[in-house]
Amino acid sequence: MAQAQAQPHFLVVIFPVQGHINPAFQFAKRLIQLGVKVTFTITVSAYNKITKAGRIPDSFNFAVFSDGYDDGFKSKIDDTTTFLTQFRNRGTQNLKETLLSNDENGSPVSCVVYTLLLPWAAKVARDLNIPSAPLWIQPASVLRVYYYYFNGYDKLIGDGCSEPSWSIELPGLPLLKSRDLPSFFQPSNTYNFALPLLKEQLDMLDSEDKPLILVNSFDALEEEALKEIDGNLKMVAVGPLIPSAFLDGKDPSDKCFGGDLFERTKEYIEWMNTKPEGSIVYISFGSILMLSKNQKEEMVHGLLASGRPFLWVMIRDQNVEMKDEEEELSSMEELEQLGLIVPWCSQLEVLSHPSLGCFVTHCGWNSTLESIACGVPVVAFPHWTDQSTNAKLLEDVWGTGTRVTANEDGVVEGEEIRRCIEMVMGGDERGVTMRKNAKKWKDLAREAMREGGSSYMNLKAFVEQVDGSSTREEMVIELSNEVKDLESKLESVI
Ligand code: UDX
Repeated sequence: MAQAQAQPHFLVVIFPVQGHINPAFQFAKRLIQLGVKVTFTITVSAYNKITKAGRIPDSFNFAVFSDGYDDGFKSKIDDTTTFLTQFRNRGTQNLKETLLSNDENGSPVSCVVYTLLLPWAAKVARDLNIPSAPLWIQPASVLRVYYYYFNGYDKLIGDGCSEPSWSIELPGLPLLKSRDLPSFFQPSNTYNFALPLLKEQLDMLDSEDKPLILVNSFDALEEEALKEIDGNLKMVAVGPLIPSAFLDGKDPSDKCFGGDLFERTKEYIEWMNTKPEGSIVYISFGSILMLSKNQKEEMVHGLLASGRPFLWVMIRDQNVEMKDEEEELSSMEELEQLGLIVPWCSQLEVLSHPSLGCFVTHCGWNSTLESIACGVPVVAFPHWTDQSTNAKLLEDVWGTGTRVTANEDGVVEGEEIRRCIEMVMGGDERGVTMRKNAKKWKDLAREAMREGGSSYMNLKAFVEQVDGSSTREEMVIELSNEVKDLESKLESVI
């Protein structure tokens, strides 16, 4: 390949789901601010999702390809293995072509960055002798769990981890019980593709000399978990990757690509404007998860029993009309008197609204970080993948929320939902502490992302390293100075 040009050029490869697109876009914006040229390799379905949602910065370049699922992958209809194979094959081909054509056109790529479940992107980059780094869009703590599992702890984590009394201590992590582990370790796991793909991704890194992994987190939040693993795997925190409008407010136009915005966009903000400060319960389970009918009914009972105004995002099943879903629910009349159900919202606008009091969340990592950056306490209601570990961190490490307990059928009952909402929003001392902690983490999140903050400096050092203007050793020195600086700041805050 040709020598890197004067302006560094990063190619960002994204797994085509919202939870990966959002942080990858924010990452790209930060790179552009540092003078980097950015090109995305993205599928037609993801590209369509983004363009539907709003304006795309002119500075973004795209290499769009079809994975054969241009209307998006439909989990209830499409076969996951076929999708992943096709996505890998076509993605590999497209990435190769994009890298070669950029080289020929005098705009060679200096670094390939790829989100989760894309080990093939690292392989293509390596074959063409281009540096690469994963952008880990989950917490460093979860990365550690996977790392240890694939590096000698498989028996310890695998055996008996479904027993309620089981627990494990892993370096850099709090004591984890069975219910705190990522769902892919549970015997109930049906996503058999996940662990092999994660292993492949970590193996790719393992075979590199001094690998480095970018993490959507910040130093103060996961101080221990972000430490180098086994003197080999270096993690660089560059988050929270959320738009500037919701962090420093410097660029109010820098909002999010929130996915498809539906007809009620303005209505719910106007409705929120009419409610008292800290009074609204916001319920959302991210961009993938749909609650079972039974669980939805329990949510209805919990919300009605709490009697607080609520905004509930119920995403659309692509095969069912929204109206049908709403009509399925009992007590629609009482519900409508108390709150709003919408198919999507601008979540960060909602979380930043003064009348918001609590976030009932599935604990997807983006939602978790957004709750932290906006200083909103949570009811943690995890379902799968990293969400249980995130819930554990929210409840026991950062102290900004409480976690629901499901009954023996795996359903969280209405009374339990009411109890948790009351704990977070009521006058109980625990609620007061959660709100205080939420405020503390909000300030630290903003501090990390400001110019000169830890995540800003980490990303800058990474770009300089790729660009060849600093060596890895210089970067390590710079990062450890950052850590020292951070430690003294933390001492004065806590
Ligand atoms: C997936 C996994 O499920 C999650 O566990 C993992 O950590 C990331 O990838 P998802 O379930 O979509 O993500 O949840 P989350 O990570 O919270 O991402 C959802 C994103 O969509 C957030 O950025 C959120 O702000 C946005 N969103 C969600 C909206 O903008 N509006 C909505 O109405 C709902």
